[in-house]
Amino acid sequence: MNDTSNQNASMLDVLNIKPGIHWVGALHPDLRVFDDLFPTQYGTTYNSFLIQGQDKIAIIDTVKERFGEMFLAKVKKLVDPTKVDYIVVNHSEPDHSGALAMILQHCPNATVVSSPTAANFLKNQLHVPFKSHTVKDREVIDLGGKRLRFFLAPFLHWPDTMFTFLEEPGILFTCDAFGAHYCGSGMFDDEVPDITAEMEFYFDCLVRPFKDKALSAIAKIRGEKIEIICPSHGPMLRADPMRAVALYERWSQPDSGRAADGLSKVVILYMSPHGNTGRMAEAVAEGASIPGVTVTRCHIEDRSEKEIRDLMEEADALVFGIPTVNRDVPKTMWDTLARLSSVKLRTSIGGVFGSYGWSGEACKMAEERLKGLRFKLPAAAVRASFRPDPAALVECQALGKAVAEEVLKQKQAA
Ligand code: FEO
Repeated sequence: MNDTSNQNASMLDVLNIKPGIHWVGALHPDLRVFDDLFPTQYGTTYNSFLIQGQDKIAIIDTVKERFGEMFLAKVKKLVDPTKVDYIVVNHSEPDHSGALAMILQHCPNATVVSSPTAANFLKNQLHVPFKSHTVKDREVIDLGGKRLRFFLAPFLHWPDTMFTFLEEPGILFTCDAFGAHYCGSGMFDDEVPDITAEMEFYFDCLVRPFKDKALSAIAKIRGEKIEIICPSHGPMLRADPMRAVALYERWSQPDSGRAADGLSKVVILYMSPHGNTGRMAEAVAEGASIPGVTVTRCHIEDRSEKEIRDLMEEADALVFGIPTVNRDVPKTMWDTLARLSSVKLRTSIGGVFGSYGWSGEACKMAEERLKGLRFKLPAAAVRASFRPDPAALVECQALGKAVAEEVLKQKQAA
């Protein structure tokens, strides 16, 4: 991708999408880290929409608080804010609801339409009374010639999420789903370079732990005639909106890495600056190699972030080899352990081992991290001072065997 020109986009005011339907969102082209978490080399957008029916006016989502005044000015260009009837909150995360408190002051007749969960979340964000209507799945609000239908889509990626579908001409407002952090020279996918890579990175950062929820939400809208998908970040998808749906279906498949031979898989992720934890990893792998189990052992520096996430999702057990450096788990391994909450794990069986020089705190820390994520650790961590001696390697073999046996035991019980 080489389109980094945001000049035209930064000039963007309201944008007409279809008769009576306008984009009134905000552009943030120079954002480089989203939510203090994810890199956004192409910036992002906070998409908001204003829909004018024959009888009623609705706003779909707002914008980040810092863009509130600009957002209000865009709304005022189209309508008198006192005439706004509904403000639909598809998801209450502050990048979309940050301007809600302010806009409500200018829209005194507006009712906030949301899922019940979002209404609860908003109470703790606004701290003032507001008119609220919580919708049931597939409930319809008629704006007069324009009908909004709501599909609850919980945990995509918050428990409060829903989609809003404008039945005619078939525009699906999906909040975070199908989005991308991309602020380029156009607002539609057919006006910018291919953003598939940005969509996939966004999916990995945000949606991946909720793959099953993504599939459930897609099942609800699969049969609808969708002309445009309007996510709340990045370009609106009109070239082939169902391609984005198909991509999400592909990325959300749960068993993409399951061994074709039906064997259970123990994955050992380790680092080993002096080869000692690596020797222990070999012994753990030997112990875990029992009938019915296959073992994948890899140094985390040899794999990309995506490959490590894939391995985590394929694993029936995860064992971590961690040397202690400066009384701590080394940062690259902390990063790996942090990724456990960014994937859709199918296991909660784990183990820890590692070499150390003189203190050896890392294994204990990693055990606590795994316990915090409700992992079952069938054997205590094996630690070895400097180079593991034969007795330590036997302990490592026993650790691997205990983990593998627990995998088979749980498989049998399932
Ligand atoms: Fe873009 Fe979950 O907010």
